[in-house]
Amino acid sequence: MKALYFNEFGDSSVLQYGEVADPQISNDDLLVKTTYIGLNFADIYRRRGNYQIKEHHPYINGYEAAGVVVKVGAQTSGWQIGDQVLFVDVPLANAELVAVPSQNAIKLPRDIPVKLAATIGLQGLTADFLAHDLISGKKGDKAFIHGISGGVDQLLSQILTADGFKVFGSVSTSDKQKIAINQGASAVYLRKPGWYEGLTSTFDVVFDGVGSTVPLSLKLAKRKGKLVFYGMAGGNPPKIDLRDVLGKSQVITTGDLWDYLTSAEERQRRSARLFDYVNRGLLTVTEPIIFPLSHGKEAYDYLESGESIGKILFVPDGN
Ligand SMILES: NC(=O)c1ccc[n+]([C@@H]2O[C@H](COP(=O)([O-])OP(=O)(O)OC[C@H]3O[C@@H](n4cnc5c(N)ncnc54)[C@H](OP(=O)(O)O)[C@@H]3O)[C@@H](O)[C@H]2O)c1
Repeated sequence: MKALYFNEFGDSSVLQYGEVADPQISNDDLLVKTTYIGLNFADIYRRRGNYQIKEHHPYINGYEAAGVVVKVGAQTSGWQIGDQVLFVDVPLANAELVAVPSQNAIKLPRDIPVKLAATIGLQGLTADFLAHDLISGKKGDKAFIHGISGGVDQLLSQILTADGFKVFGSVSTSDKQKIAINQGASAVYLRKPGWYEGLTSTFDVVFDGVGSTVPLSLKLAKRKGKLVFYGMAGGNPPKIDLRDVLGKSQVITTGDLWDYLTSAEERQRRSARLFDYVNRGLLTVTEPIIFPLSHGKEAYDYLESGESIGKILFVPDGN
């Protein structure tokens, strides 16, 4: 099969596209032919060598794709060739074929197209656990999201709005600002010098997947407010002094999606909850930006540039 792979960690120039051995499935696995493959920020951390990645020679990045079951392991149950699936936590996904443990495969309902599933899969399940596992809140509470028109954050913003929060955010461009407003945010600030003056101690909860903004997040959060830290799209957070956090009785919480996807039932339950927001017309997403798998370097560079809006997907060449 063809795959996007690399032999040593580094910048996007390490990425190569070419022939590698087909995966072998075990009795508990499904062989999935990928239709759309998700590119995520964590893939950049992995390619740089800063994050967990499966040992494999060569390395094949990616943990998310949607596609079709083409072979079924002897001990799997409830699966058939032709089933459409999504997975968000299975290694070696930047490839035409992936061996997917059956408990990691999420069977797609008929009303959820494969492309939509790939567009909202990992980012949507992340938004779902951020909104439903890491915070509680009451109707009308104010939430702030840095980079609100990013992939995770577009979905998070809409889920929070649907759940009754008043949602606010920041963005780098006016195009991104329009998207977030159209998706229901109450106010979206363009990051110009001093943009947050007048907003300190305003928000019940601040969502920070940017990292470098953590000190600002603690300023934006109210006394007894909460900071939810979940990523470093803008760089590592500087060290913070917990005494300052204590001084305002604030709460800091973190979470990694994989700690919430602990069984087949959890994956199915959480994805059903996410798809329910779609079916109720509460989630709109910008069209994904699609690259052929052979153009891997371009796609990684685009994601790293910070210019992308919404999801980046690969399509295996020839599909
Ligand atoms: N914890 C988990 O389980 C989990 C799972 C998935 C993703 N994540 C994390 O969630 C974050 C978002 O992922 P994504 O896939 O949605 O990426 P994305 O689509 O690229 O969105 C990231 C956003 O961050 C904003 N940003 C970048 N640099 C910034 C800066 N210096 N200051 C403020 N905002 C900045 C950008 O918006 P602007 O252009 O408006 O600045 C961009 O839209 C990443 O950190 C990722 O690692 C965590």
